Amino acid sequence: MSSTQSHKKTRIGIIGAGPAGLMLSHLLHLSGIDNVILENRSRDYCENRIRAGILEYEVAELMRQTGVGARMDREGSRHDGTNFLVNGELHHIDFQELVGKHVMLYSQHEVVRDLIAARLEAGGEIIFETSDVAVHDYDNGHSPYITYTANGVASRLDCDVIAGCDGFHGICRPAFPAGMITEYDRVYPFGWLGILAEAPPSKDELIYANHEHGFALLSMRSPTISRLYLQCAPDEPLENWPDDRIWDELALRLGHDGFSLNTGKIFQKSVTAMRSYVAEPMQTGRLFLAGDAAHIVPPTGAKGLNSAIADVAILHRALDTYINKNDDTALNNYTATCLRRIWQIERFSWWMTSMMHKFDNHVPFDARMQTAELNYLLTSSAGQMTLAENYVGLPLH
Ligand code: APR
Ligand code: PHB
Repeated sequence: MSSTQSHKKTRIGIIGAGPAGLMLSHLLHLSGIDNVILENRSRDYCENRIRAGILEYEVAELMRQTGVGARMDREGSRHDGTNFLVNGELHHIDFQELVGKHVMLYSQHEVVRDLIAARLEAGGEIIFETSDVAVHDYDNGHSPYITYTANGVASRLDCDVIAGCDGFHGICRPAFPAGMITEYDRVYPFGWLGILAEAPPSKDELIYANHEHGFALLSMRSPTISRLYLQCAPDEPLENWPDDRIWDELALRLGHDGFSLNTGKIFQKSVTAMRSYVAEPMQTGRLFLAGDAAHIVPPTGAKGLNSAIADVAILHRALDTYINKNDDTALNNYTATCLRRIWQIERFSWWMTSMMHKFDNHVPFDARMQTAELNYLLTSSAGQMTLAENYVGLPLH
């Protein structure tokens, strides 16, 4: 980088304007802690990136309590339960009855839009379209700083703490000292083909389907837009899936008595590979990871956004005590506090994924185990309670 032409100072330097970075910035602001976000994409890109759409009960409550829940309550929808379709039989799981809580269906990119709007309205600083972001001096007792280029200007941001909220492919995790991180990883032998279609949802709540052709999921975005997924190969070429084939396969995998699939114009199509991943530890010196930067889950159960928000709720509390009360105990314990919850989420997402998908490598014993697991879940109130408790979300700490 050429010599630094812009020099700023803040308390917390946040890298990444995804849900983790934005919510952290918002929470810190409410605690009076100055922060700046550096994001390498444009605002438009961040606000239109299509991801999942289920908010856990406490995540939705956090949005409301911190003043960013109004549009979610107006435009999102409350889901008191969900459906499992197994062997052509539909089973309803009533979260409200089982655990007295619900979830909110509200797209991740809408959460991102609401948080960006709230930060900018409050005078917060988000620098979009940065490049060459690099982190320095977080590990040697000096004050950390971040270097980056914005509008062609070589810039430097001094801070007390760096929050690496830069997603799975970010620069913060690779900046940890060599050999410090242990990675725990599971790559699944399938992916999800996801579509958005101009079709009214065919059901009021989601349907998770286990079918001999593979998993399917019926979800939605609004009264006129359906979000649907099909299990496919992890590297499935989209050319293999013309629209007619997608609709035929969805109708087959989601089919059951009294159901008919609404179809319409498909306006978005993509394939996502599936993986479980955790990096330990999540901190080194004054550099902290949160969200996808530290861990990812397969999308079954929609935990990605929710676990990113849980991390930053924990990080915010720890930073608040550190900065406002000069006590770094919680900050030092950040990794341990987060990982307890993260491994619960990893287990749940892995369990849902294992139970609902078709595994080509299953021997007959594995297949019988999957059937037994589903039978237990769908016929035992304890099984349903386990599902409901995890699906609506564990406490945010
Ligand atoms: N410099 C600046 N910004 C960066 C860099 C970098 N070098 N690398 C990545 N980013 C930005 C990305 O452009 C993105 O906007 O960091 C942000 C990370 O956001 P997410 O990937 O959305 O991650 P996170 O905020 O942890 O949210 C996790 O997003 O991936 C989904 O399913 C996942 O729902 C989960 C949620
Ligand atoms: C979605 O609506 O995109 C969605 C819902 C539930 C999931 C995954 C994705 O488990």
